[in-house]
Amino acid sequence: MPSHPPDHRGKRQRAAGRLCHPPPRRRVSNPASPYIVFENVEVRYSPLVRGLCGATLRIERGEFVFFVGRTGAGKSTLLKLLTREAAPTSGKVTLAGIDLGRLREREIPALRRQMGIIPQDFALLPRKRVWENVAYAMRAVGATRKEVRRRVPAILEQVNIGHRADAFPHQLSGGEQQRVAIARALINDPPLLLADEPTGNLDPEHSLEIMQILARLNERGTTVLVASHDVLTVAKVNRRIVTVEGGQVTSDSKSEAPARV
Ligand SMILES: Nc1ncnc2c1ncn2[C@@H]1O[C@H](COP(=O)(O)OP(=O)(O)O)[C@@H](O)[C@H]1O
Ligand SMILES: [Mg+2]
Repeated sequence: MPSHPPDHRGKRQRAAGRLCHPPPRRRVSNPASPYIVFENVEVRYSPLVRGLCGATLRIERGEFVFFVGRTGAGKSTLLKLLTREAAPTSGKVTLAGIDLGRLREREIPALRRQMGIIPQDFALLPRKRVWENVAYAMRAVGATRKEVRRRVPAILEQVNIGHRADAFPHQLSGGEQQRVAIARALINDPPLLLADEPTGNLDPEHSLEIMQILARLNERGTTVLVASHDVLTVAKVNRRIVTVEGGQVTSDSKSEAPARV
């Protein structure tokens, strides 16, 4: 029987080599997979309350999709499944091939860092100026001061709020606050942007402006998903519209498009 060759590795390497169980499983996203798939998803918040009941939908990279439907239809639940604020009770949700329902708690922060999330209530820090609100979020994910100084003004310009960089949130209109919230969601240049009722408190003119900012981001390659009951504004933006009713997808402008000849 051949003897083992001498082991010239260092002590730590030898110790590592002795750990012969497989390396920890990493869930790796697969660029070849469809981007987002909801497969017959049910979400039960309690025995009697269901957020979704059999929703099925597929979204490709680079799309701009509106989720429309009345209050309680399940629009926010669709977005929450992607941020893992909710998990499917049955069915399956995948993002770039990753089964989100099987994600562990400790994997959730990394998932959320891949997306920009625009919360319904803006959630700005009231005692910090506009630029500080965005800078704070950048520093929180480990950006250096130099990166912050370079990037914050560019992001604020991108959403047309650069001229109010020194204002405090209470000095801004609802539309301006919404733009700061969008800027903050863009700090990591996320491939996916999620917005829940981004025009909820805005008048029609400012609503359209916000949707147009999101549409421009989409034209630069970001996949954008927007839950909105603001059907008038949604209709003006002319993107894919998915209707959610009673926890299911009941119509989809993409599948209704006439077949090309
Ligand atoms: N955290 C929760 N706990 C219990 N029920 C919830 C929760 N979130 C949503 N729901 C219920 O799930 C259903 C769908 O809600 P939601 O996804 O927020 O709808 P939408 O965004 O279309 O208004 C509603 O009946 C709602 O009351
Ligand atoms: Mg909602």
